Amino acid sequence: LTVQVSKPVAAVPKNMFGLFFEDINFAADGGLYPELVKNKSFEYDDHLIGWKAIRGAAGLADYRVSGDQPIGATNRHFLRLSVKTAGPDAGFVNEGFRGMGVKQGAEYTFSVYLRRGPGSISALNVTLEEPGQRGGGPETSASGQALAQAQITGLTGEWKKYSVVLRPSATAAKARLKLTVEGTGTADIDVVSLFPKDTYLKRENGLRPDLVQLLKDMKPGFLRFPGGCIVEGMTLDNRYQWKETIGEVASRQPMINRWNKEFKQRYTPDYYQSFGLGFFEYFQLAEDIGAEPLPILNVGMACQFNSAELAPLGSAAKGPNAAGPGDEPTLDTFIQDALDLVEFANGPASSTWGAKRVAMGHPAPFNLTMIGIGNEQWGPQYLERYEPFARVLKAKYPAIQIVSSAGPSPEGELFDKATATLRAQKAEFIDEHYYAKPEWFRQHVDRYDNYPRTGSKIFAGEYAAQSVGIASPANKNNWDCALSEAAFMTGLERNADVVAMASYAPLFAHVDAWQWTPNLIWFDNLNAYGTVNYYVQQLFSQNKGTTMLPVQLPGGAKSGTDNLFASAVADDAAGDLVVKLVNYSTAPRTVKVNLAGAKKLGKTGRALVMAADDLNTQNSLQEPKKLTPQESKFAVAGPVVSYTLAPNSLTVLRIPGK
Ligand code: AHR
Repeated sequence: LTVQVSKPVAAVPKNMFGLFFEDINFAADGGLYPELVKNKSFEYDDHLIGWKAIRGAAGLADYRVSGDQPIGATNRHFLRLSVKTAGPDAGFVNEGFRGMGVKQGAEYTFSVYLRRGPGSISALNVTLEEPGQRGGGPETSASGQALAQAQITGLTGEWKKYSVVLRPSATAAKARLKLTVEGTGTADIDVVSLFPKDTYLKRENGLRPDLVQLLKDMKPGFLRFPGGCIVEGMTLDNRYQWKETIGEVASRQPMINRWNKEFKQRYTPDYYQSFGLGFFEYFQLAEDIGAEPLPILNVGMACQFNSAELAPLGSAAKGPNAAGPGDEPTLDTFIQDALDLVEFANGPASSTWGAKRVAMGHPAPFNLTMIGIGNEQWGPQYLERYEPFARVLKAKYPAIQIVSSAGPSPEGELFDKATATLRAQKAEFIDEHYYAKPEWFRQHVDRYDNYPRTGSKIFAGEYAAQSVGIASPANKNNWDCALSEAAFMTGLERNADVVAMASYAPLFAHVDAWQWTPNLIWFDNLNAYGTVNYYVQQLFSQNKGTTMLPVQLPGGAKSGTDNLFASAVADDAAGDLVVKLVNYSTAPRTVKVNLAGAKKLGKTGRALVMAADDLNTQNSLQEPKKLTPQESKFAVAGPVVSYTLAPNSLTVLRIPGK
C-alpha cells in the first residue's frame, strides 16, 4: 500500500478523539464521584433508599423522614430517630453503592449534621464495617466486623456539622456504614457523608483517582457531558438542568436518574443523580485531563423514545408577541440556560454567572468553545427548536461553536433530511450516533469518503459495536467489536478533514449496577479496567498525529480491501510518520508500505500492536490487561517498509521521518 507522504491533505483536528460521559451504569454516583453514602440527605423521592434500620421501627420507637425545621430551604428532609430503650443496635446502616469500597489505612472523612431533640441522646457512634448477614426487609442485622470506629459527642439543640476521619484497618469492597446513638430520646440526622481523602489531585469533593487516570491516559481531545439521554430526561421535569448542579454540594437537590427502573423494568431501582459531580466539576475534570469541555444542553425536548414532551416555542422562535408562557418553561428558558452557561464558564467575576464560578474556586475561565444543542433528537420538532436556539446563541456568542444532532440512526430518509437541513443552516458540527453490529463498522469504513469537503463537519458523538444487538444485556466488549471499531476509525482518520471529533459510548459501567452494555471502562468499588475497545481508542488518540496523509490500499482501494484497512498521518511534533493497519483476518499478512516522497527516514521504527487469534478475547477485572498494545521495534531499510501483520490485529507503525 502507498502512503503519499509528500501530499498532505489537511491538519488532523487537535481534539479529534475524545470522551463521552453520561451518568449511566453508576458512572457518576457509585463511580467517578466517590461519595460512599447513598441518599446522604434523605432527599430522594423514596426517602430511605440506601438506609436500613437495625432494630426496626418497633424497637426504635420511631424513625421517619421529617421536614420539621430542616437545615435549610434547599435541604428539606432529614432523618428523625426516636429511641425508647438504649442499646448498641439503636440506629441505621447505609449500604453505599452496591457496598462501599474502602482501602486499608486510607483516610475517609465522615461528616454529618446533627441536632438533639427531647431526651438524653448524647453521642453518635460511627462504624465502618464488613456486614454480617444482610437483612432482606427494611431492617438489617447489627452484626458486622468493624473496620473503623469513631464517636461524635457534644450534640446540641441546633443543627451543627461534625466531622471525623476514619482509617479502615482492612480493605473491603462491600463495607457499610453503621450509625447508632447513645441514650434515649430523639435525634435528627442529615447530610451524612463518607468521602475519601484520596481523590484526583486531592481535591475536596474530588473524583476517584483510578478512573480519572484511565481517562487521562486516553489523551482525550474533548469531554462531552453530561450525556446522553439524561440530558433529555424521560419527561422535561426529569431533564438535566445544569444550574441545579453548581454551588454548595449539600444544597444540590437529587433527581431520579432516567436509567432508574421506574422508567423501564430492566433498569436499576435505586438510581438517583446526587449532582455532587455537577457542571463545575465536569469543567474541572476536562481541564485536569487536558480535554476541551463539550457540554450538551436540552433543546426543549424530552426523550423522543419515551414521553416526547416538548417545550412550547416561545418568543425566540415565534417573535416577541408570542403568547405568554404561563407556568411552563418555553424554549426561551432553555436558550437562556445556554447563554448563562457560557457566562458561567467564561465570564468575568463581575458577571452574574461568572461570579458563581469564581466563588466555587476557579477565577480563570474554563475556555468553553463548544456547546451541543440537544442530545439525540431528530425530526421537524427538533429543527424548529434548534434554529432559534442556535441563532440566539450565535448572536450573543459568535465564537461558540455549535454541535447539532442528527438523531439516533445513521441511515434513512429522516436522517438524510435532518443532515441536509442542518447543513443548509450552516451547522458547525453534526452529531451522528452509530450503535450497530461489528460488521456494520467494517462495511462502512468509507462512510465519509464522499462527504462534502466544505460546510458542516461531523462529530461521531456516540458509537460502539454491539456483539449481540443494540444495548442487548448480552453484549460483550470483545476483540471482534474493538477490531471492527478500529477498522471504522481508519475511515474517520482518513477523513479527518470532515470528521472533527469522535467518541465511543458509553464510557463507564459498574459491574454490579449497569443498564447498558458494552461500555469502554468497567469498574467495581475498588478496581477498574479498560476494555479492549478502550485500548483501541487509546491507540488512535495517542497516535493521532498532526497531518492527514493519503493512503492507497492494494489494487487502488481507498477504504479497505480484503479485510485490510489503513490510514496514515504525519506527527510533525514527534517527527514520525504513523501508519495504522487493521488485519481482520485469521491469517498473518505481510504488507509493503511505500512511503512515497518520504525524506530523512530513520533506521528503526516502533510498532504498537494489539492482536488476538480469538475474536472473543476480553479484558476483565480478573485479567485487566489480557489484551493491550505491545510495543516492539523494527528495521526501516528504505521508503518501502515491509511488515507482517498478525492475525486479527491492529498495528500502529511509527517511523521516524517526514
Ligand atoms: O450511550 C447510551 C445512550 O445511547 C445515550 O444515552 C443516548 O444518547 C443513546 O441513545
